[in-house]
Amino acid sequence: MTDTEIHKGLAGVVVDTTEISSVNQETNSLLYRGYPVQELAAKCSFEQVAYLIWHGELPSDEELGAFEAVERGQRELRPEIRELIEQTPVSGHPMDVLRTAVSRLGSLETRFPDDEQSDYEKAVRLFAQLPAIVAYDQRHRHGMDPIPAREDLDYASNFLWMTFGELPDPVVIDAFGQSLVLYAEHSFNASTFTARVVASTLSDLHSGVVAAIGALKGPLHGGANEAVMATFAEIGSASRVEVWLDDALASKKKIMGFGHRVYKNGDSRVPTMKAALDALVEHYNRPDVLELYTALEQAMGERKNIKPNLDYPSGPAYHLMGFDTPTFTPLFAAARVTGWTAHFIEQQAHNSLIRPLSVYTGTPQRAV
Ligand code: SDX
Repeated sequence: MTDTEIHKGLAGVVVDTTEISSVNQETNSLLYRGYPVQELAAKCSFEQVAYLIWHGELPSDEELGAFEAVERGQRELRPEIRELIEQTPVSGHPMDVLRTAVSRLGSLETRFPDDEQSDYEKAVRLFAQLPAIVAYDQRHRHGMDPIPAREDLDYASNFLWMTFGELPDPVVIDAFGQSLVLYAEHSFNASTFTARVVASTLSDLHSGVVAAIGALKGPLHGGANEAVMATFAEIGSASRVEVWLDDALASKKKIMGFGHRVYKNGDSRVPTMKAALDALVEHYNRPDVLELYTALEQAMGERKNIKPNLDYPSGPAYHLMGFDTPTFTPLFAAARVTGWTAHFIEQQAHNSLIRPLSVYTGTPQRAV
């Protein structure tokens, strides 16, 4: 073998600096540009937080107004994307539709060169366009037409409007908005680092987002939030949790929604999203969901002492809001496009090609 130290999965390896967010496992905290995420989720709109992630400061009222005017003017579902969704079999996964749609949007971008300002403009355009894609993809699977965007609604309300054709109770809008803030950014997670690798070759922003969507789809990463609901459906009720869990752990299954590469004492975002889930459980009168949630969390703590990550409360929360389970990870992507694009721009502003090394352990050199 080799005496070279291998850092599989880059676990614990610091590869660069960033000014966008700080994930601190010692203090179990997450700061977006210095602000604690739980305070941002409680006091700011998703638009304000997106602006903060891109610009480094919360927007003044004037800056927010100008940003919202640009964002709201770009929400409509483009005909090319409507056609793409309608040509995709409903058996396909919504993350495949989203990945393909972003790639198509990239092919429609005519603005060159790819400088920082045009990349920011593209980022805001994607931010504005993803809700229409995610919303229509879910509606199309139910044989329904798209619902036009509304420029009089904020981002979260318009997203729900385009998906369901009605405005839910403010409790639901607030819970959805908080989930978007919590999902927006998380430093060098797998999908964001993927976007940075693409940025480091000086490729284009849409290519970086397409690659990031591919990484997020995996169940060890963003795909976990839909996998949590599959777990709940498989277990059925709180009374069956312990039998199910003992069997799952015996077969070495990874329990979706639990564990984290960085947070080893619990995910800093969970308390905020759990409070939002509690509010939804009360609003929809679904104590059964909370009983199952609590029973599995308790059983995992007793057996593996592994704590939930953000995907654990967000899965049942999106279920109660009425989203189809396969739509959950596209919701994660619509929020995380802010972090992905901010990191893409930061990487290119201080670039070095990302190209790690490997140790060869294959067949020794030989003649043909
Ligand atoms: C996200 O990085 C980010 O910031 C990601 C994210 C973001 O905002 O971008 O936070 C979003 O991706 C959250 C994670 C969502 N994924 C899941 O919920 C999938 C289930 N979780 C596991 O696959 C796992 O916890 C990972 C992948 C998230 C982290 O795994 P690590 O750090 O690579 O740890 P590991 O897999 O090496 O596990 C260490 C030990 C192992 O036991 P042993 O083999 O040493 O006995 O803990 C066990 C694991 O088996 N373990 C689990 C487990 N997570 C860890 N056992 C059962 N179920 C789990 N969920």
